[in-house]
Amino acid sequence: MLVLRMPPKEQAFRPRIADLARLQPGEVVLDVGCGTGTLALEALQRVGATGRVSGIDPSGQKIAHARHKAERAGLSLDFQVVVIEQLVFPDQTFDVVLSTFMMHHLPDDLKCQGLAEIVHVLKPGGHLLVFDMKGPAGPWKSSIRDQPALMKEAGFSQIETGKTRFPGLGFVLGKKLAGDGRRPCRFRCNEVKGKSHTRPSCIVDTPLATLKGINGLVSE
Ligand SMILES: C[S@@+](CC[C@H](N)C(=O)[O-])C[C@H]1O[C@@H](n2cnc3c(N)ncnc32)[C@H](O)[C@@H]1O
Repeated sequence: MLVLRMPPKEQAFRPRIADLARLQPGEVVLDVGCGTGTLALEALQRVGATGRVSGIDPSGQKIAHARHKAERAGLSLDFQVVVIEQLVFPDQTFDVVLSTFMMHHLPDDLKCQGLAEIVHVLKPGGHLLVFDMKGPAGPWKSSIRDQPALMKEAGFSQIETGKTRFPGLGFVLGKKLAGDGRRPCRFRCNEVKGKSHTRPSCIVDTPLATLKGINGLVSE
């Protein structure tokens, strides 16, 4: 069995995210905004030899690092330089999509586009786990609490939210039911809760320093 080398806090943390995602052997998983691929590697442990894991991130450097980690561990994962708002996978490819510490980097209209893409690439019955900051974070002061409304708008059902045992962090889980299709995004940056801001580039390559500072949890 693969043993991932992670700092002690992250050793507790990544498996807990994988637990929340309810990953099962044989499943096909996508990690959006995968960074250097630590969670994707953990996901592969859960889905095993009959499953498959892909990770996407706009940062070529992070994807190169993720590929290197997979190679070093002798594991086969598919890491690609891709943005969430333009996923390159065929419809209904994945059982589970994961998003950790990524959504708060995006304005709500971009989150909405990304969620619509995720609905497309999920199989009917598949689910999305978003794990992120509870408090306002990132350039858009967004929080995990904004996520259920955005996910509902994108077509997710049976939305569950919850606390985690990590202070300041929460999760949202949503299911794509059979027949859920693409919907137009209603959200626009300047409409969301009176926030007014200028839309940035789609690619926000923010380092992990904030997370390291707040929680001391995330390693490269
Ligand atoms: C704080 S890091 C989190 C990385 C990883 N998910 C983790 O938990 O360690 C945020 C990641 O989101 C990625 N990102 C930023 N904009 C993105 C976009 N439009 N689509 C996909 N990923 C994006 C960044 O490159 C970065 O790797």
